[in-house]
Amino acid sequence: MRITIFGSGYVGLVTGACLADVGHDVICVDVDVDKVARLNAGEVPIYEPGLESLIGKNQAAGRLRFTTDSAEGVDFGLLQFIAVGTPSDEDGSADLTHVLKVAETIGNNMNDYRIIVDKSTVPVGTASKVGRAVAASLEKRGRSMAFDVCSNPEFLKEGAALEDFSRGSRIVVGTDSERVKKAMMECYGPYNRQRDKMLFMGIRSAELTKYAANAMLATKISFINEVANLAERLGADVEEVRHGIGSDPRIGYSFIYPGCGYGGSCFPKDVKALAHTAEEAGHPAEMIKAVERVNSRQKGKLFEKLCQAFDGQLADKTIALWGLAFKPNTDDMREAPSRTLMEALWKAGARVQAFDPEAASECHRIYGERDDLVLADNRDEALEGAHALVICTEWKAFRTIDFDQLYKTLLEPVVIDGRNLFSPETVKAAGLSYYAIGRGDSV
Ligand code: UGA
Repeated sequence: MRITIFGSGYVGLVTGACLADVGHDVICVDVDVDKVARLNAGEVPIYEPGLESLIGKNQAAGRLRFTTDSAEGVDFGLLQFIAVGTPSDEDGSADLTHVLKVAETIGNNMNDYRIIVDKSTVPVGTASKVGRAVAASLEKRGRSMAFDVCSNPEFLKEGAALEDFSRGSRIVVGTDSERVKKAMMECYGPYNRQRDKMLFMGIRSAELTKYAANAMLATKISFINEVANLAERLGADVEEVRHGIGSDPRIGYSFIYPGCGYGGSCFPKDVKALAHTAEEAGHPAEMIKAVERVNSRQKGKLFEKLCQAFDGQLADKTIALWGLAFKPNTDDMREAPSRTLMEALWKAGARVQAFDPEAASECHRIYGERDDLVLADNRDEALEGAHALVICTEWKAFRTIDFDQLYKTLLEPVVIDGRNLFSPETVKAAGLSYYAIGRGDSV
C-alpha cells in the first residue's frame, strides 16, 4: 500500500518507519529542508530506542523516503497521514495552524480520491475543519473530487514507541465510511494479526478518546501525588499505600507511581487542551482543571524539600541533579520537572551540576552556557563539590548507589529522591537525610 505521512517529528517518524517495516511504501514529507537532508543522510533527529536502525533498514530496502516535495507526497499515497505538531496556544487550546496548512496542501495538489488521516492529537471537531480546508482548496482550483477524513489517534509512549506501535492495545479509527474502514484495515493489517485490535467508531468519539485516555492517566498520577502529599502530613508511607490500592484489580498498579509531577509533550498539553475544549463547550471540567493544578504544584516539590533541608539557605549551594529528561529513555525535556527545579534553584542563587544519560545536549540547547549550570559527563562528576543530590528521573543507571560512598562525597548529607527509588532505611543507615515523595519529611 502507498502511504504518505506529513510531518517527520516523533509521531510521523515512528508511524512511517513501522508502516514501511511491514512492507508498505512510505513517503514522509516535511517542510524543514535541513531535517529532510539529515534524514536522507541516515541521521535521525530524535532519540527513540530502535528508531534509527528501523529507519535505516527501510530506507535501504527502498520502502521509506523523505522529501520536502508536498505535491509528490499528495500524489503518492492513497492514505495521507497528518502527523504535524499541535502546540499549545497561550490559552491552552491546541494550535491547528500546521494541521490545516497540510489540509490545504492536500487540497491544492490532489488529483484523485484521497483518505486524510488525522494522526496528530487534535481537538474534537478537527476532522470537520480539515475536511472544509481540503474542500476550500479544491474549490479554489475549480475542482471537485471525493475524499474522506478520518481520525486515527496515536497512543505511543516516548521510549517505547516501536513496541507500542506494533503491540499496542488498540487501533482507534473514527470514520463513517466503509471505504476508509477497508483501507485502514489494510494499512494496519500486519499489526492486527493476533487479535482484532481495530476499534471503529464515530469521528468525534475517536478524537475525544485520545484526550480522555491521556487525561485519565494524568488523573491517576495527580491522584497518587495528592495522596503522597497527604501521607507526608499524616505520617503514612505512600509506597505502602500504592501497593495497598494497586492490588485491587479495579485500580491496578500502572500509572500510580508518585513522583515530582508528569511532564513531556503530551499530558501537560492534552490536559490543558481538554480543559479548554470543555470550557468552550459550556462545561467547565472541574476534575481536569484540578489534575493540572495538582501537577504544577507537584513540580515545585523538589525545590520545597531542598528549602526544607537547607532552611531556605540555598544561595551559593551546589546541587547535584541526576536526570533531566521528563522520563527515562528519552532526551525530551519538554515540561520536565527538572526544569522547574533548576529555574527555582538559579533564582535562589544556587548552582546546578546535572547529569543525564541522554538529555545533556537538549539541556544545553534550552539554557545555553551559564555559570550556574554544569553538565557533567557522568553521575560521579555531578557529585563533585555538591551539597546535596536530587534525583529527578528514574533512569536505570541511578537505581544502584553506594550510599556510604555518597555520604563521604556530598558536602551535606542530603538526598532528595523525586522518584522514590530507594528504601528509606537503607539510605538512612548510611547517615544521609533522605527526602522522598510521600514517605515522611525526612527519614
Ligand atoms: C503519554 C501516554 O502514556 C501515551 O499513551 C500517549 O500516546 C502519549 O502520552 C501521547 O499522547 O503521545 P508519554 O508522554 O511518552 O506518553 O509518557 P508516559 O510514559 O506516559 O509518562 C508521562 C509522564 O508521567 C512522565 O513524566 C512520567 O514520569 C509520569 N508518570 C508516569 C508518573 O509520574 N507516574 C506514573 O505512574 C506514570
